[in-house]
Amino acid sequence: MPPLPPAAELLATAARPFEDARAMPPSVYTSADFLQRELDTIFAREWMCVGRASALAEPGDYLTYELAGQPVMVLRDREGGVRAFSNVCLHRMSTLLEGRGNRRSIVCPYHAWTYGLDGRLRGAPFMAETTGFCKEDYALPAIRCEEWLGWIYITLNDDAPAVAETLAPLTPMIADYGMENYVECFRETHVWDTNWKVLAENFMESYHLPVCHAATVGGHSKLEEMECPPGLAAFNYHWITKEASLPIGNAHPTNTRLEGRWRKTTALLALYPSHLITLTPGYFWYLSLHPQGPDKVGLLFGGGLSPEFMADPRAPDYIATLKGLLDEVNEEDRGCTEKVFRGMKAGRARGGHLSYLERPIYDFMHYIAERTAGFDRSFALAAE
Ligand code: FES
Ligand SMILES: [Fe+2]
Repeated sequence: MPPLPPAAELLATAARPFEDARAMPPSVYTSADFLQRELDTIFAREWMCVGRASALAEPGDYLTYELAGQPVMVLRDREGGVRAFSNVCLHRMSTLLEGRGNRRSIVCPYHAWTYGLDGRLRGAPFMAETTGFCKEDYALPAIRCEEWLGWIYITLNDDAPAVAETLAPLTPMIADYGMENYVECFRETHVWDTNWKVLAENFMESYHLPVCHAATVGGHSKLEEMECPPGLAAFNYHWITKEASLPIGNAHPTNTRLEGRWRKTTALLALYPSHLITLTPGYFWYLSLHPQGPDKVGLLFGGGLSPEFMADPRAPDYIATLKGLLDEVNEEDRGCTEKVFRGMKAGRARGGHLSYLERPIYDFMHYIAERTAGFDRSFALAAE
């Protein structure tokens, strides 16, 4: 496969040492061909987060997701397991379920072929005379689906290592937060007019907080409080340790898991390609991104409280305050990331140097360059 011009430009930028690092070239964000390469080499191959397992609490609860062009349904089956299937009918290939909800069985909206929660075809009206047809031959293709610390991930890649294996280095780093027990209180989907990587990168650096978020959390953000270590193969991260602006940002008095500075440390986790988690001692929120074109990104946005704050009588107030603040902060991020994408389309747009506070973006660039253009990350990491 000859390198596309954007991939060649990306390789040249990724080869720069961190001390002289620059942002990715604009073509990597604006090119439809490069997006297709990302869909083929990243989104069709990696684990994608579709939310919290608690969102599928009851048998028959389902959600739908379009993964690299493949409609997927994820559901809680009768035995209590979470399973994913192709969301395409086995008759004349209509899509089956939409959005989220609960079903005892899955009935195709076209001719009512009906599937059980195990994916098997249970009924097909007026097919008795088709003697070559045997409903036992039909079952929706399963899609790989795994849980990790309360999250559900799906992948189209039968050879991908398990999520827990991929993220094994991260698990002990955040174990004391007990993220698996955090309770999701809201979950929404949105579409923004920007490239998915612009929004991912926006999450990966807190350099923009004092400026982009001047009207909300910016005043509480001191860049000196941020620690941005080099990332690892499957994720990057940075830490912010400070007195939180919200009471729920620090550990609840009944939280005995977190000690010392960890009681006021926020972890900002970017799990490749696009699961972005802000994990604080008292609450969490997340985005899971999927491109809908070079210029549009679909966001799954959710969040909630640690179990200690959920048990607090003031939990409803905490949830309302958190949601109100995050909505304002997201609106600010939307403004900044949509402006960046508008700028990137300009003929004279060029990426400039990165600050040391943008270390995770440098690591993300290497990840993208490895997946899409064969960049050798092991060499780059060995050179640290
Ligand atoms: S396409 Fe689903 S029943 Fe015909
Ligand atoms: Fe932001």
